[in-house]
Amino acid sequence: EDEAVEVEATSEEKTNKQLLLRLLKFISSDDKKTLAVACIAMSLTSMNNLAFPKIISHLIDGVSKGADAQSKRKLVVSSLIMFAVGAVGSWLRTYLFAITSDSVSKRLRGELFNAILKQESGFFDQTPVQDLQCRMTDDVQAMANATTSNLAKVYRYTNSAVGGSILLFTISPRLTVATLGVVPLVGVTGMLYGMRAKKMSKKMKENVSHIASSVEEKLANMRTVRLFSMEEYEGEEYRNLLSLTEEDVRRAAHAEGLFLGGLAFGGFTSLLGVLYYGGTLVEKNVITVGALTSFAMYSATVGLGFSGLSQVYAETLKALSSAQRVFEILDRTPAVNQDDGRMLDSIEGNIELCNVCFAYPTRPDALVLSGVSFHLRKGETLALTGPSGGGKSTIAALITRLYEPSSGRIMLDGISISTLSASWLRKQIAVVNQDPILFSDTIEANIAYGRPHAKRSNSASELEDIEEAARRANALSFIMDFPDGFQTQVGERGHLLSGGQRQRVAIARAMIRDPKILILDEATSALDNASELLVKEALERLMEGRSTLLIAHRTSTLAGSQRIAVIDGGRIVEEGHYDDLISKR
Ligand SMILES: Nc1ncnc2c1ncn2[C@@H]1O[C@H](COP(=O)(O)OP(=O)(O)OP(=O)(O)O)[C@@H](O)[C@H]1O
Ligand SMILES: [Mg+2]
Repeated sequence: EDEAVEVEATSEEKTNKQLLLRLLKFISSDDKKTLAVACIAMSLTSMNNLAFPKIISHLIDGVSKGADAQSKRKLVVSSLIMFAVGAVGSWLRTYLFAITSDSVSKRLRGELFNAILKQESGFFDQTPVQDLQCRMTDDVQAMANATTSNLAKVYRYTNSAVGGSILLFTISPRLTVATLGVVPLVGVTGMLYGMRAKKMSKKMKENVSHIASSVEEKLANMRTVRLFSMEEYEGEEYRNLLSLTEEDVRRAAHAEGLFLGGLAFGGFTSLLGVLYYGGTLVEKNVITVGALTSFAMYSATVGLGFSGLSQVYAETLKALSSAQRVFEILDRTPAVNQDDGRMLDSIEGNIELCNVCFAYPTRPDALVLSGVSFHLRKGETLALTGPSGGGKSTIAALITRLYEPSSGRIMLDGISISTLSASWLRKQIAVVNQDPILFSDTIEANIAYGRPHAKRSNSASELEDIEEAARRANALSFIMDFPDGFQTQVGERGHLLSGGQRQRVAIARAMIRDPKILILDEATSALDNASELLVKEALERLMEGRSTLLIAHRTSTLAGSQRIAVIDGGRIVEEGHYDDLISKR
């Protein structure tokens, strides 16, 4: 059994080393230069700190031996110069380490966000947003600190520990050997504490992100909480969640307190030993009082150095647990690669589904589509209808490659879309969703979001396009009724607009995209009859020459479409022309 534990410990050592090496790669060569300067600045401070006890010793021995005023003044002036140099070093290193830490965390955050953006839809079904946010903020911060301020501390504490020890030897080798006896003890305690801290910190972070995601959801949907009068329940629920972490926090705090308390006790006891044993040496005239004083001060410096090193060790291990969480995402290969694959020069817009079966990754056993086949010919409008939960929106998600079919094929102009670049494919399609989401920005920015080229620009022609899209989506009149017009803020997810207004902005966003293929998923469901009619006209204009998949329940919406497919229970159960199907009923 012992052997197993040992193997585990060494493999953990190995992964720690790998994690650290990988983490250090995020320090760019520019950062390294900055860090080098910061280390020089820190050396100045360290030298200053190490010289200070020497000065005290000279002063004390000088006073007791009655040194002349001039040599005393010389000592004071040279000390002041040194202190000033030390202070400048202090300022410089603080500044440089802070900006390097910022640069490293920006780099990490950027890469992490890129990696998150590449993940497939199924990943987001499974991962709470707040968990990702924790990784992007807290974890990245801990990692950035590990590469900069922890590194700085290692350097500083090593200076104190090694420099201090050498100076101790120069004062009294005998006393030094007696004093440094406690160092291994401090080292071992630090290691043990560090390993424990890493384990606890990982668990605590998981808890914290779990709590945060639950709170965020409630905060974002306060209205629903209120309408069901669940404030008290939610408050209670939150307190319960918080108390889940109580035990962990207590244990972590306990371990940290024990560690720090132990260090303090060890430190003071060894200081007491120094003074006691040193006192006898002073009595025997082996060393002076001044030397003993500086020795005591150096031993404190050395003690702080070693205990500081063991604290840094613990902190670094904690940061490595953050690194693990971040690398997990960086290393994740998305199930759908967004960029790999072909891009076609031009497309006709034929979409064909052949025997498509599909289950969502979160529910692999529930087959949502079981053998769906249909053909949406170029320029044609195919209506998809059927009972709720039948799988209509799922088909739209598969055509845009948000998910991959479990079996069967989806083809664009006869080419399987799984061989095409997903991001290119999505540029050929505009989707107006059942419950369109707008982003917290102006109406103008939200419509502009649909443009196939993602760059922001405010050129006059762009603004004209936006206005034209709004007009065709029958949105212009209500937009102009707002005092701020196109500059009106829509709020988070667009909740400051009415459902119908939101839908029309989303239609404008699709219109400006000018795609070959259009997917309208209940796009006009929240509009009154008059608005629907206007938008439908506009959509018909938009649909001209494009292949349109029109998902709808209402027969009024279906009327304009050439062909209708009815989907129920994951299968196409009926297919034909509108008039035929209506007359059959
Ligand atoms: N992200 C998801 N993860 C797991 N299951 C899902 C997901 N989205 C939808 N489902 C399930 O897939 C089935 C089909 O849903 P879908 O949204 O395609 O139905 P729909 O035909 O569009 O219904 P409606 O007319 O109500 O919009 C439903 O049983 C639903 O619960
Ligand atoms: Mg749907």
